[in-house]
Amino acid sequence: MAPAHLLLASLLCTLFVCRCDGACAEPESDTEAVVGKGFKMGCLSCKRRLEVEGSATVDWYFRPDGETDFIHIYNYNENGPTIESEMFMDRIDWNGSKRSNDIQDASIYLLNVTFNDSGTYRCFFNRVLYYGIYECKVVVDKVVQLSVVAKATRGTASIVSEVMMYVSIIGLQVWLLIEMIYCYRKIAAAGEEALREAANAEYLAIASESKDNCAGVQVGE
Ligand SMILES: *[C@@H]1O[C@H](CO)[C@@H](O)[C@H](O)[C@H]1NC(C)=O
Ligand SMILES: *[C@@H]1O[C@H](CO)[C@@H](O)[C@H](O)[C@H]1NC(C)=O
Ligand SMILES: *[C@@H]1O[C@H](CO)[C@@H](O)[C@H](O)[C@H]1NC(C)=O
Repeated sequence: MAPAHLLLASLLCTLFVCRCDGACAEPESDTEAVVGKGFKMGCLSCKRRLEVEGSATVDWYFRPDGETDFIHIYNYNENGPTIESEMFMDRIDWNGSKRSNDIQDASIYLLNVTFNDSGTYRCFFNRVLYYGIYECKVVVDKVVQLSVVAKATRGTASIVSEVMMYVSIIGLQVWLLIEMIYCYRKIAAAGEEALREAANAEYLAIASESKDNCAGVQVGE
C-alpha cells in the first residue's frame, strides 16, 4: 500500500515539474543596475493553472563577481522577510507577492546599489503542494546576472530594433521612390509611344494621300 502512495505522490510531483509554465509569462529580469539607484530584481515562478493548495518560502543567494561561493542574503516566509547578510543590511525590500502564502513573485528591490553588488543572484522557491494527503516539494530556482554601471546604457536589443526600424523606414521610402520613377517613366514612355503612333498614323495618312495624289498625277499623265 505504501509504495503505491509513494508512486502516486512522485507521479504528481513529476507532473508538476514537467508542466513547463507555458501559459504564464515570466519576463526576464533586467540585468543592469545603476550605481546609487534602486533596482528591482525580478524572480517569478508561476503556479500551474490547475490550482493546488500550496505554500512557498523564498531564499535569495548572491555570488559576487570573481568569487566562487554563494552567500545567503535573504529569506522570505510566512513570518515576513529577513535579510541574512551584513552586506545588504537595510538595503533589500520585498517586491514580491503580498498577503499570500503561495508566493509566485519573489522579486526583491535593492536600494542604493554599489559596484560591489555586481554578480550572480539566485532565487529559490521552496514550494510545498498539497494534493489531499500528499505533499509534494518543489524547488524552482532562477538566476539573475547583475552588472552595475555608472550610468544607464541602453540594451543592445533596443538599439538593434531601433536601427532596424530606421532601416525599414528608409528602405520603404527608397522603394516608393523607385516605384514612382519607374511608373513615371512608364507613363512617359507610353505617352511618347502614343504620340509617335499618332504621328506615324498621320504621316501614313499624308503619305497615302500624297501617293494617291501622285497616282492621280501619274494616272493623269
Ligand atoms: C519595490 O519596492 C520599492 C521599495 O520599497 C518601491 O519603491 C517600488 O515601487 C516597488 N516596486 C514594485 C514594482 O512594487
Ligand atoms: C540610500 O541613499 C539615500 C540617499 O542617497 C540615503 O538617504 C539612505 O540612507 C541610503 N540608504 C542606505 C541603506 O544606505
Ligand atoms: C566594496 O568592496 C571592497 C572590498 O571588499 C570594500 O573595500 C569597499 O568598501 C566596498 N564598497 C562598498 C561601496 O561597499
